[in-house]
Amino acid sequence: MHTDTLADTSTETAVRLADVHKTYPGPTPVPALRGVSLDLRRGSLTAVMGQSGSGKSTLLNIAAGLDVPTRGRVVVGGHDIAGLSPDRLTRFRRDHVGFVFQAYNLIGHLDVATNIDLPLVLGGRAADPAWRTELVGSLGLAGLEQRLPGELSGGQAQRVAIARALVTRPTVVFADEPTGALDSRTGAQVLAMLRDTAVRLGQTVVLVTHDSVVAAAAERVVFLADGVVVDDLAAPSVEQVASRMLALGR
Ligand SMILES: Nc1ncnc2c1ncn2[C@@H]1O[C@H](COP(=O)(O)OP(=O)(O)OP(=O)(O)O)[C@@H](O)[C@H]1O
Ligand SMILES: [Mg+2]
Repeated sequence: MHTDTLADTSTETAVRLADVHKTYPGPTPVPALRGVSLDLRRGSLTAVMGQSGSGKSTLLNIAAGLDVPTRGRVVVGGHDIAGLSPDRLTRFRRDHVGFVFQAYNLIGHLDVATNIDLPLVLGGRAADPAWRTELVGSLGLAGLEQRLPGELSGGQAQRVAIARALVTRPTVVFADEPTGALDSRTGAQVLAMLRDTAVRLGQTVVLVTHDSVVAAAAERVVFLADGVVVDDLAAPSVEQVASRMLALGR
């Protein structure tokens, strides 16, 4: 056990970003995040929105320990990950973080059940069939366990990707445009399932989306522009989200 625990982090806070800056180096350095502070409550579903290039993926990657900030603190589940060595960061991700990507990343020649078990197996842990069955049931995938990914609809494939992200019981699930390949309505349905499952399991979810309908399924929507948080809406309607995005585009 290591003890990168911050005494000031409430157990109600799953993710805390404190004055996070990220500048990508290069001939012309890019200041992608310019002082982001954010506390995400345990068990919450937060959507992150903003124009292309506003820093959404950078924010997610840093909060998930896939990239390191130039400055600032990142605390996930009580662990200050900004100070971890690469080895510990890898272990931290394996134990505490789940990912859902836009392209699903399912393995085509493995059936649904095996795809879901993959993060456990890759992490050297035993598969947990009872837990998998519960996830499959709550995501509406019962009966599809023996199918190959190519035999699923887009929405079903995305729900398999969600089950796979939840199977390790991570502290936080990060999803970068998880419904980007789905139509708005299917996307919102998949999101509603992710939200209900996460709430029931007490898991925290952070997702990036361009879709107002999808974002409005979240209990909180954070808007980024030029690497800073410019707005933070609690349980907004689709119309509120859409008009905020429109204003950002001006
Ligand atoms: N590896 C990198 N090296 C240099 N600059 C980068 C790198 N990754 C992102 N950027 C720059 O950082 C800024 C933020 O990028 P980011 O990918 O976080 O935006 P985004 O909000 O996710 O955009 P999109 O909606 O298009 O996915 C952009 O100006 C981008 O060009
Ligand atoms: Mg992005």
